[in-house]
Amino acid sequence: MRLDKYLCDALGATRKEATKIIKSGEVTVDGEVQKSGSYKVSEEGQVAWQDRPIAKPGPRYIMLYKPDGFVCSHEDGFNHTAFVLLDEPKMESLHFAGRLDVDTTGLVLITDDGQWSHRITSPKHKCEKVYRVWLADAIGDDYAEKVAQGIELRNETAPTAPAKMEIVNYAENELLLTISEGKYHQVKRMFAALGNKVEQLHREKIGQIELDESLEPGDYRFLTQLEIDSIWNK
Ligand code: URA
Repeated sequence: MRLDKYLCDALGATRKEATKIIKSGEVTVDGEVQKSGSYKVSEEGQVAWQDRPIAKPGPRYIMLYKPDGFVCSHEDGFNHTAFVLLDEPKMESLHFAGRLDVDTTGLVLITDDGQWSHRITSPKHKCEKVYRVWLADAIGDDYAEKVAQGIELRNETAPTAPAKMEIVNYAENELLLTISEGKYHQVKRMFAALGNKVEQLHREKIGQIELDESLEPGDYRFLTQLEIDSIWNK
């Protein structure tokens, strides 16, 4: 692909803007300054502007470690949107592949590929999500069986789909819950229906994609090809 087209597509710049950026001498391909818009960038070519890598144009797939206090939507008059944590061009074309509540932390996937995110969010595809849950009161002996059978939630016609529960630390009321749907406030409502209360909630995994341990709250990284494909191949 031509270098000027690469920048137009990757940055959402006009051809005129891309030409100006290239002429400034601040654009490198594989570490070499390139001043011509017609320069051909190879498939593996690494483009950078002011020493910052410019991701290849095309669909984007990002994992974000969502901290407490951020909402998963573009606009919220009250809280910060988690999008402020991303420093990427063309933000308006990105969306959350499944949301977390403002006080839930952990793995959030962000993309501009609607078909890919549909595989994650549509209950039809049964994409599993793993949550670490801390409850206010002791974990009931019957919880694992009840979540496996499905729980009747208020204002829902059908019970929740079978879920898996594993106790992590009984004394701390800490457990892992795997669900394959994403009903509104689902985890909190499931434990409320069991007479308990979720004190803290953290998402660790979506399908085969695990929250990268090297990320701190508020950090993000692009997914690997293997991670992207795992959503199609599950
Ligand atoms: N279930 C909830 O109750 N909250 C979340 O943020 C995610 C799942």
